Amino acid sequence: MRANVNRYWVLRERPTGLVTPAHFDMRESPVREPADGEAVVRVRMLSIDPANRAWMFPSPTYKAPVAPGDTMHGFGVGEIVASRAQGLKVGDIVEGMVGWQDYAVLPVAELAKRDIKGSIEHAMGVLGVTGLTAYFGLVEIGRPKAGETLLVSAAAGAVGSIVAQIGRILGCRVVGIAGGPDKCAWLQRELGLDAAIDYRQGGLRKAVRSACSNGVDVYFDNTGGEALDAALFAMNERGRIVCCGNLSQYNADRPAPGPVGVPGLLVTKRLRMEGFVVLDYFDRREPAERQLKAWLDEGKLKSFETIVEGLENAPRALQQMFEGYNLGKLLVRL
Ligand SMILES: NC(=O)c1ccc[n+]([C@@H]2O[C@H](COP(=O)([O-])OP(=O)(O)OC[C@H]3O[C@@H](n4cnc5c(N)ncnc54)[C@H](OP(=O)(O)O)[C@@H]3O)[C@@H](O)[C@H]2O)c1
Repeated sequence: MRANVNRYWVLRERPTGLVTPAHFDMRESPVREPADGEAVVRVRMLSIDPANRAWMFPSPTYKAPVAPGDTMHGFGVGEIVASRAQGLKVGDIVEGMVGWQDYAVLPVAELAKRDIKGSIEHAMGVLGVTGLTAYFGLVEIGRPKAGETLLVSAAAGAVGSIVAQIGRILGCRVVGIAGGPDKCAWLQRELGLDAAIDYRQGGLRKAVRSACSNGVDVYFDNTGGEALDAALFAMNERGRIVCCGNLSQYNADRPAPGPVGVPGLLVTKRLRMEGFVVLDYFDRREPAERQLKAWLDEGKLKSFETIVEGLENAPRALQQMFEGYNLGKLLVRL
């Protein structure tokens, strides 16, 4: 391997409030040679995820936190450029926690080979973690039936835009919550949603009740906060709330108090509220990916990506995600 230089972003300090580029420093060092059992990955695409911000909290989430001075953690796809690992050869495409850097040197156990036949964007979006999160969360936990009403928050984002479309494919009436009139118009025009609610207008409880006049059977919660509160008051008996994420709180200095309806409405309406982490479903990844691919090929499912160019723009992309910049999956191409 050539003595390449690795550019990498380290976390300068834990943010309080909105994460910005000022919380990161870019550094450079030579790419180290792989040890036995390791491979060097040239990172091609990074996934920008709300969870990137949650990993900056000092307490662990479903993984260890990022500490000041650490290379910023990040999921990505890349190409093997040097290998001393069995089963990985130069030219293989892999995915894993490569971090915000040009080159990652990782043990084979932390890399998964991907057979990417179509676009790398699809492999990181609709046919990757994002699509699987939408699929397993909705199908296995939400268990929607045709004719039911599905409400989705962050509906124009990566997971939300796929959840909303799967809901339609399964015959649900689908209502999305998103920020701003343009996104709401896009949800109805491009994704064919039955209604869209702009949460920035306020009055969310009333807006949800009016858009979901038959009540909500499944609420897919990407945001927590006000949207969860509004959904709880509109749920039908035996409704299901899929807790996928809490992105309204990831930049909060201190967590907002819980929604008013918990636990009272859970009891009286016999609701089921269940969280999940998509990694727990990875042993059943293949059939789910096949289903998502079939829907894509049949034109029933559309994939949307917002691509930011250059590793140097990763911190800004993360900030912009929390300002509503992306439609569909947000990626940084290196
Ligand atoms: N459980 C799992 O295994 C799993 C896996 C992947 C992701 N997730 C979770 O799924 C959720 C969606 O993730 P994603 O990757 O699809 O991201 P995403 O929805 O693309 O996230 C960005 C979007 O969120 C909206 N947003 C930002 N700040 C907000 C706020 N304060 N309140 C309400 N909406 C806000 C913005 O859209 P607007 O313009 O509409 O505000 C923005 O475009 C996140 O909570 C994430 O942590 C969970």
